[in-house]
Amino acid sequence: MKTRICGTGSALPARVVTNDDLSKIMDTSDAWISSRTGIRSRHLAVEETLTDLSEKAALQALEEAGIEPGDLDMILAATLSADKLLPSLSCELQSRLGAVGAVAFDINAACSGFLFALQTADVYIRCGTYRNILVVGGEILSKLMDWQDRSTCVLFGDGAGAAVVRPDEGCGILSSIQGSDGSRGEALLCENRKNNNPYVTNGTELSYVSMDGQEVYKFAVRTVPKAILDAVEKAGFAVDEIDLFLLHQANIRIIESVAKRLKVPLERFPMNLAECGNISAGSVPILLDYVNRRGMLHPGDKVVLAGFGAGLTWGASALTW
Ligand code: UT7
Repeated sequence: MKTRICGTGSALPARVVTNDDLSKIMDTSDAWISSRTGIRSRHLAVEETLTDLSEKAALQALEEAGIEPGDLDMILAATLSADKLLPSLSCELQSRLGAVGAVAFDINAACSGFLFALQTADVYIRCGTYRNILVVGGEILSKLMDWQDRSTCVLFGDGAGAAVVRPDEGCGILSSIQGSDGSRGEALLCENRKNNNPYVTNGTELSYVSMDGQEVYKFAVRTVPKAILDAVEKAGFAVDEIDLFLLHQANIRIIESVAKRLKVPLERFPMNLAECGNISAGSVPILLDYVNRRGMLHPGDKVVLAGFGAGLTWGASALTW
């Protein structure tokens, strides 16, 4: 028994902000952003909530899978930027969808979040506990950015992606790799709100995302190729047999470096980074939906999904489509 992705969906906020737009409000340029990262624009939420975007993505995924919200046994939402601390994004989504029979909880593994949620769903399905699981990854990271810090705020975007997974005897997830290294967590950091009980005095300061870009870059180019190779080997494939590699969209230079280390042509690494920026837990499912909607996935194709980011965390899965 395998866990098969039977439907995908995605939603991006209406407002598109180009690098040139950003250069009007801070000391940056299209030349710097696009040459260092490959990002040209991103969608930023103005009217939309993360629940709105996740609902839209989820409905598309359910439609393609041919199931109703009432058929769902479980909703897993990967996010670090839920609309509320309580209730979770997954519970808000359950309520919006009317998925009354689903158990719902969130997973925070930052940019690896969708991979970790998918891998969690895979275990529930292979154990026979649940059959119909909605896995969502999404972020409104723009609310966690310091818009005075040009070194981080230009990199990220908002959006949500979704996948419905079900048991299948034929195709599906064949192997998964996961890893975490909390000792390097300072490299990509955002404090929660400070303790504000009556016995502490420094309770109100808000924190925003800060990143040691070069540390994260080095971590990514060393860790991701190994995670992919391990997942591919565990699945019983050779790396040159893989049709598509769907990587977390953080930086084109990271993706180029991974392709080079794996000795695989860059054409097998589809990207939507130029139009979306880095959407953390949203990036892999949005890219998956992007390639699915464009007919780039065919039955039986060998696909690798890989994510990496804060924690530090990383994950890769190899599957047949
Ligand atoms: O999902 C989480 C994953 N995160 C990542 O994958 C991030 C990985 N890291 C990276 O992608 C790259 O390290 C960055 C794109 C973040 C930065 O690229 P870099 O080549 O490492 O640049 P840098 O941080 O060394 O900065 C070079 C220069 C600095 O100026 P000086 O000190 O050399 O004069 C920065 O102040 O670029 C300057 N700079 C900017 N200039 C224009 C930094 N941000 C900007 C900006 N516009 N937005």
